[in-house]
Amino acid sequence: MKLYKQSSNNTHRRDDDVINIHSGSGGSPYHSKTLKHARSLPRSINYIFREQRLLFILVGILIGSTFFILQPTLSRIAPNEASRFTTSVSNSNSNNHNQRTARTLGSQTGRVPVGIGRRRLRIVVTGGAGFVGSHLVDKLIDRGDEVIVIDNFFTGRKNNVVHHFGNPRFELIRHDVVEPILLEVDQIYHLACPASPVHYKYNPVKTIISLLISDFIHDCDIYKTNVMGTLNMLGLAKRVGARFLLTSTSEVYGDPLEHPQKETYWGNVNPIGERSCYDEGKRTAETLAMDYHRGADVEVRIARIFNTYGPRMCLDDGRVVSNFVAQAIRKLPMTVYGDGKQTRSFQYVSDLVNGLVALMEGEHVGPFNLGNPGEFSMLELAEVVKEVIDSSATIEFRPNTADDPHMRKPDISKAKELLNWEPKISLREGLPHMVSDFQNRILNEDEGKQA
Ligand SMILES: NC(=O)c1ccc[n+]([C@@H]2O[C@H](COP(=O)([O-])OP(=O)(O)OC[C@H]3O[C@@H](n4cnc5c(N)ncnc54)[C@H](O)[C@@H]3O)[C@@H](O)[C@H]2O)c1
Repeated sequence: MKLYKQSSNNTHRRDDDVINIHSGSGGSPYHSKTLKHARSLPRSINYIFREQRLLFILVGILIGSTFFILQPTLSRIAPNEASRFTTSVSNSNSNNHNQRTARTLGSQTGRVPVGIGRRRLRIVVTGGAGFVGSHLVDKLIDRGDEVIVIDNFFTGRKNNVVHHFGNPRFELIRHDVVEPILLEVDQIYHLACPASPVHYKYNPVKTIISLLISDFIHDCDIYKTNVMGTLNMLGLAKRVGARFLLTSTSEVYGDPLEHPQKETYWGNVNPIGERSCYDEGKRTAETLAMDYHRGADVEVRIARIFNTYGPRMCLDDGRVVSNFVAQAIRKLPMTVYGDGKQTRSFQYVSDLVNGLVALMEGEHVGPFNLGNPGEFSMLELAEVVKEVIDSSATIEFRPNTADDPHMRKPDISKAKELLNWEPKISLREGLPHMVSDFQNRILNEDEGKQA
């Protein structure tokens, strides 16, 4: 075995030096082809690294952009990817980590870079089998998210969400929110609450409890609570780092002394009246949400919803639009309480759902008024219902109920400016959609009675 070293005259080209090792005695120490190849390879690599740096950077950018464009598609293919980021809620030691990672996921919804798709979220909708909740569920499922509905069916119906049964991105849990529940989620829309006077007056204590707390203890650094309703959901939001949206109500303004109502108005609520379980319950729910926001860093959103109507409303729930429509279809006189001059504003449900989603995805806590500023007296509403359903429909006057507000009209300038939201559908456009749904259900009801 001989060792040969190719000497070089050019001392600066030491990298060109080649050591050839040959076995056997007869082989030539000089092998021109091997040498040429061995010399040229590092030289060209060197050249590329030195001279083509720009080309390398461009190729890198190209590969990076391709990855980011494909990434959202991949994340949809792997639906449980999000759960890799949110660890088990039962592991209390990892709560802070959960909170941070899940919050990052949640906050991505509002800040999606141009050209990059949105990560699929897992979202809880309490009261999702109800009127508003079921329309919200439709929207969230349509845009590709996973939705878990929690409902005890007090006023909600399985029929409202039956079209999602069998969809792997939809789950329905029969559960009362006054009991705690543990779920790994990115966002919580908290709607569960008996919302119509007929229902909340039926069980006022339960109504306030669904919104309220049974016991509330302040610990040195965190709130330790024995929770119910809103507090349960706020506790869940805190534990898993989910964003929490409360559906409050225009009833927090009571019988308002300011018109139209701005979010800065503190309201005029009778604390001991028949409606107080609802009004004061929602006011307290807002307080709790803000306390969790300030004290426990929960990302909170508060919507103050004004009268909303649309398909899937309860038929006989005592709310004025559903009352009038159902009565006109059944050929009964429309019941007007008082002189009928009290005013309300009516928003179509799809407008509300768009507002709720804009609020959840946005960066502002609120509260935000979500309503249609078009103002109608009860008598004007009755006229519109006559136009749409039956021009021969009649009106029956009855004594007004206690604490019925004289006027209600949202000032929505805050939502317009900060959420870029405003309602699009007028009463005359929206009402026919509700009427066809009511006609079908009343027909089915009547057929059921005859059978
Ligand atoms: N529709 C409106 O005009 C209006 C106006 C202001 C505020 N809101 C608020 O919006 C939310 C939804 O209202 P909606 O009109 O869809 O009412 P809804 O009665 O149709 O829906 C409420 C849902 O919550 C469920 N629910 C009630 N108590 C529950 C409990 N303890 N546990 C689990 N589920 C429970 C009901 O079964 C129902 O499915 C409510 O919080 C309501 O206060 C609605």
